[in-house]
Amino acid sequence: MSQTDVTGAPRRGKVLTLDTMNPNIKQVEYAVRGAIVQRAVKIEKELREGAKKPFTEVIKANIGDAHAMGQKPITFLRQVLAMCAYPELLKDDAFPKDAKQRAQRILEACGGHSIGAYSASQGIECIRQDVSRFIEKRDGGIPSNPDNIFLSTGASDAIVTLLKLMVSGEGRTRTGVMISIPQYPLYSAAIADLGAVQVSYYLDEDKCWSLDVAELRRALRAAREHCHPRVLCIINPGNPTGQVQSRQCIEDVIRFAKEEGLFLMADEVYQDNVYAEGCKFHSFKKVLFEMGPEYSSTVELASFHSTSKCYMGECGFRGGYMEIVNMDPAVKAQLVKLVSVRLCPPVPGQALLDLVVNPPQPDEPSYSSFMKERTAVLDALAKKARMTEQIFNKVPGITCNPVQGAMYTFPRITLPPKAIDKAKEEGQVPDMFYCMRLLEEEGICLVPGSGFGQREGTFHFRMTILPPAEKLEIVLHKISAFHQRFTKEFS
Ligand SMILES: Cc1ncc(COP(=O)(O)O)c(C=O)c1O
Repeated sequence: MSQTDVTGAPRRGKVLTLDTMNPNIKQVEYAVRGAIVQRAVKIEKELREGAKKPFTEVIKANIGDAHAMGQKPITFLRQVLAMCAYPELLKDDAFPKDAKQRAQRILEACGGHSIGAYSASQGIECIRQDVSRFIEKRDGGIPSNPDNIFLSTGASDAIVTLLKLMVSGEGRTRTGVMISIPQYPLYSAAIADLGAVQVSYYLDEDKCWSLDVAELRRALRAAREHCHPRVLCIINPGNPTGQVQSRQCIEDVIRFAKEEGLFLMADEVYQDNVYAEGCKFHSFKKVLFEMGPEYSSTVELASFHSTSKCYMGECGFRGGYMEIVNMDPAVKAQLVKLVSVRLCPPVPGQALLDLVVNPPQPDEPSYSSFMKERTAVLDALAKKARMTEQIFNKVPGITCNPVQGAMYTFPRITLPPKAIDKAKEEGQVPDMFYCMRLLEEEGICLVPGSGFGQREGTFHFRMTILPPAEKLEIVLHKISAFHQRFTKEFS
């Protein structure tokens, strides 16, 4: 091509090219919506266009999106939101009194009494107060200050915002962020985007994905050779591994954070998703305060919650909050400034969060139906968690830890050496090769374990337990049959 255009001026290439763009973005990976999902979407299109496949629909068990998997919204939440969005409905007798009161209260707190107005950047004040009351109640009366609550665009936004605040230094002084392996890839993606250093600590698969402080110590020591670890991230209940941490373990982690001078980030978006007998959710905030002032007045903590998970599954509203504890007031002022640049989290998401933290009370008309719907969702998840473990553990070559909490299983799969060689030949990591074959043959979309991190030489996949029970049972049996076929083919 000529170096000049028709006017004779030098022809310029694109300003933004792969060479000139932000190099950190090129390092970002997010397996949950990665190559396998793109192929799944294509297959769906092929099916719509009449292609003949061994299946008639693609089941997307790759992402923790409850409503996409058929979960019905909780009536009370949607009634209030409907009235917030269209206040004319406040006159409608079909809506219960308590739902109307909630909607009215939210609207009164909105600019111009409309959820279409911007809110304060930290979130609507009365909702932050409700969040504080919720936390106090959840944690047995330990005080929570609404000034320390930041409403957010889902938990993701708050997590990234906080990480952003924490990244500094160059070379050996660059911030290191400790994350579990396997991990939820938001963390590795945000770390890559911000140019921080990922410090991986491994969960113990043989002990039901538990967290061992000796492993934290090993990872920290090794990392101090090349960066400055400042942050320790914990996901409890765990994604993708579904473990629920014991109180003792949380105490050990807090002690470790204090000894080593680490800021704690506790991702607690699955706090209501606890299924296994003997397991209980303990918030980091509560344990921190129960450990006494030596810890509760010093250890810096941010904890995160969301409207996307638990019994609500309202991912699309993008509601969430973070609570900060012991943050330096000067840094907190910087955080307030940082969130103000983005104006505010979505107000419908804030309204939804308000209902989650302030649900119907026993003396209110919506209480019994609300509790019935909430319990039905959580009971069904508990049943599906047990079913998943039971079915997978019957298959030679699949081992599956109990799904104690959250919404996922992360079973280990044994792959024959010939399958590993074949994957390499095709330029794929072995578990991606496995998942792609499963998608092509059975129409089931999972995420390869390599997208979350796993110990060298081990292979896994992540699957949600969200499909309705009857469908999930079919999916589990199809995966089991596929695994045996695959193993035979490559043996
Ligand atoms: C552990 C964990 N943290 C955060 C998020 C993000 O949730 P949100 O939809 O609130 O941004 C997810 C979503 O799956 C998650 O699993």
